[in-house]
Amino acid sequence: MHPIAFTAQHDKEAIYLQLAGALRNAIKAGELMTGAKLSSARTMASAYQLNRHTVMNALQLLVAEGWLEAREKSGYFVTRTLPIDSSVEQEKQPQYIPKPLTFAQPMSDPVTAELAQYKYNFAGGLPDIEQFPFVEFKRALSNVCQRIDAKKLHYGAVGGESELKFQIQAYLQRARNLQAEDLVVCNGSQEALFLSARVFISPGDYVACESLGYPPARKAFSACGARIIDIHQDEQGLCVADLEAQLQRYRIKLLYLTPLHQYPTTVTLSPTRRLQIYQLCYQYGVVIIEDDYDHEFHYRCQPLQPMASDDPAGIVIYISTFSKIMFAGARVGYICARTQILEQIRAHKQLINHKNDVLTQLGVAYWMQTGQFERHLKRMTKLYKSRSEAMAQELRRYQQMGLPLSFVYPDGGMAMWVECGTNVHGVKASARKHGIYLQTQDEFYFPDSERSLLPSATDITHVRLGFAGQDTMLMSQGLRQLMLLIYPRYLS
Ligand SMILES: Cc1ncc(COP(=O)(O)O)c(C=O)c1O
Repeated sequence: MHPIAFTAQHDKEAIYLQLAGALRNAIKAGELMTGAKLSSARTMASAYQLNRHTVMNALQLLVAEGWLEAREKSGYFVTRTLPIDSSVEQEKQPQYIPKPLTFAQPMSDPVTAELAQYKYNFAGGLPDIEQFPFVEFKRALSNVCQRIDAKKLHYGAVGGESELKFQIQAYLQRARNLQAEDLVVCNGSQEALFLSARVFISPGDYVACESLGYPPARKAFSACGARIIDIHQDEQGLCVADLEAQLQRYRIKLLYLTPLHQYPTTVTLSPTRRLQIYQLCYQYGVVIIEDDYDHEFHYRCQPLQPMASDDPAGIVIYISTFSKIMFAGARVGYICARTQILEQIRAHKQLINHKNDVLTQLGVAYWMQTGQFERHLKRMTKLYKSRSEAMAQELRRYQQMGLPLSFVYPDGGMAMWVECGTNVHGVKASARKHGIYLQTQDEFYFPDSERSLLPSATDITHVRLGFAGQDTMLMSQGLRQLMLLIYPRYLS
């Protein structure tokens, strides 16, 4: 067969790859018929003005890929068994048109706020990444790489590296009075939340949540087939009487709680309510998921011990994260629960991703072991406390100027929950135009709840203002811009 048309481009990839590509395309298009004998390498080399070795390399590549067959003393042939009908004209070759796909559970592509685009960042739970001791952490990683036990780099240890588990257990005992006999290291709390849902929820099961809450948790429950029951909350957190009423009405399987700093209102659930909730859950056979996402950052006093630290019935699944202590991209979270639950969690985790990244786990373990981790925590708690005071001071100044806003200075956390005294539905969009990122109350409801407590748009009066992620100067400038947007008549 005559050589196909081909001209080598000298500024592109290797010429033998270009020639192989041209031959491959000609075969796919039916231009080189299945079973046809190709011109000899010498003929092709002379036709394309190439070295014969270059042509041979291209042919051998196509033999290795299965497009050509080499026959001793006969030359190269297009593989006979290729399902390409060379007798059909090129225009009549089958045209592949993408067919509609049927997804089991269609979801929209996630859109995450590009926070770097905002000049003023009031995102609620973000740490100040610029303050992270990268040099220190680089040393920890480098130390780990220098004396790594290669066995650790294989599969296995689904629940986490023993060094990290040991450090977390010791830390939990020391800082949170939580005696965790075992734990599973997860890809952030999100994986822990999803896995907890996966092992407990069958489609149609009920999960109770605070009416205002962390949307990714409720989406994970819902994706596992849960029907969400919103429970009323007041200025002290989850309303126990409403929980009891819903427990009587629905066979609730899980209760998702953020007791230390309620998300998004930051309220700390009192010991009395914690005990009442625990007793009710025990009575109704409900498992509690305690999401303790920013435990360290408590300013008024020592943080209350987690509910999991006093769990005689073993009904609490305790979930926490390094996303606020380090940064979300570290993807280190963990889950403590009784043995039977952890066995299930490990089995399901293995199906998803086998295990967490080993180097990061060992790096974090080393960082913890040297004491640098807790020094970083102390520094950040002090810094965030001063930033929270600065924000409170600014807000009080606006109150004194007559703006109808109110807030309770939080015992801890990384954000303030501010009642603006006016409707703020739509403020997020106008703030975005001014380079300000903030979250408004409506974002924290779950419209798809079986029992939804979503208020009407006119009742959206709160904003959540994160204070940890930016310095006080930016906070103050951003707040002024925001006040002008929320209260144009007062401040203009
Ligand atoms: C309530 C709550 N839970 C958990 C997390 C942390 O998630 P992850 O550990 O997956 O980064 C956050 C982070 O924003 C949160 O606000």
